[in-house]
Amino acid sequence: MTTQVELKRGLKDVYLDRTTVSFIDGEMGKLLYRGYDIHDLAEKSTFEEVIYLLLNGKLPTRTELRGLESFMAANRAIPQQVLQVIDIVKTAHPMDVLRTAVSALSAFDSDVADNSPEAIKRKGIRLAGQAATAVAAHYRIRQGLRPVLPHETLGHASNFLYMMFGKEPTQDEAKLMDVDFVLHAEHSTNASAFAARVTASTLSDLHSAIVSGIGTLKGPLHGGAAEAVMSMAHDIGKPENAPTYLRNMLDHGGRVMGFGHRVYKTEDPRARHLRERARTLGQQRGHPEWFQILQAVESGMVPYQRRGIWVNVDFYAGAIYHLLNIPDDLFVPIFALGRVPGWAVQVLEQYENNQIIRPLLQYVGPMNLPYVPIEQRH
Ligand code: ACO
Repeated sequence: MTTQVELKRGLKDVYLDRTTVSFIDGEMGKLLYRGYDIHDLAEKSTFEEVIYLLLNGKLPTRTELRGLESFMAANRAIPQQVLQVIDIVKTAHPMDVLRTAVSALSAFDSDVADNSPEAIKRKGIRLAGQAATAVAAHYRIRQGLRPVLPHETLGHASNFLYMMFGKEPTQDEAKLMDVDFVLHAEHSTNASAFAARVTASTLSDLHSAIVSGIGTLKGPLHGGAAEAVMSMAHDIGKPENAPTYLRNMLDHGGRVMGFGHRVYKTEDPRARHLRERARTLGQQRGHPEWFQILQAVESGMVPYQRRGIWVNVDFYAGAIYHLLNIPDDLFVPIFALGRVPGWAVQVLEQYENNQIIRPLLQYVGPMNLPYVPIEQRH
């Protein structure tokens, strides 16, 4: 007989621990990093400043920020051997290549086994820089182009676009990328951060935890949604097709990608910044159609707001990447690039007060079966 236990499928509404990193109010649509409102950070801060804030719990002074920026600049390049690994696996999905590259980077990081707070911070910053270099290098290698070495003076977001396309981005393009990284930097114990925490909870190392995070982020229910949104926009083709498309999908129990969230039961506060930027960028580039299609989908989904299904951060991100000439299969890796500091700080916090994470599964299968020798099985 099965004993009665209370199952928390998907660990919904389960508090795992306390945190001082992110505050999320899913009813009010509020997100704070270390106490600072995401709207202020998106409008006034930079990704480098947010990395410092997340890892150190305070905004940097000018000198502290310069220190982080020069450490990143000095550590952005990746070893030749890792470029060779990327070349070997170049036909795989860019997310698989990134996961492999981070794993390979661990072989060349002298801090790899050091789980002290200072080493985690160093590795977190280093990996935030190197991961962008790896994604950009793969983008070029798979096209038969030579990787572009990191620029010595450009900031992180500019550097990423520079290493991808081989030319310095405009200020507007760099700002877009930077805001996108800021918005994706951290989000409490989402599935990939939880995966990173589980790995860290065994006292494994940061590279392993980030590899777990990347593997978990890849799925379409998490980071993969931006890619799926853009493929939906292509399928819809024009705004007037959106209502029929949505009806067909929802009547058959399908899910509209870029909608719904485990925590937000109102609009994801990050979506606002990407919506406005997708609109402006579409107009500037002479391609307002993507924004119009997405707007039509958003309008068609209004009735679902009553059920707490609202637009999430991934909905407008894909349109922005597309308009920046970034191919669809790089959308999730870009999310990962923004999230590296978030994974690092979650691991840092896990180590501070560690307990191995090991929930239970209630067994409901058969019991005490007689073992049948192989020759008697049919
Ligand atoms: N479209 C249509 N219906 C939806 C959607 C959606 N996008 N999201 C949730 N629902 C419905 C479900 O069908 C379910 O309905 P039911 O109660 O009638 O069965 C109800 O809302 C609750 O959904 P759950 O899956 O139980 O909610 P959960 O919190 O487990 O899932 C998730 C959250 C995975 C994000 C979900 O909303 C989803 O699949 N969204 C689409 C994928 C997506 O955009 N992911 C990105 C999330 S943001 C991020 O990771 C950065």
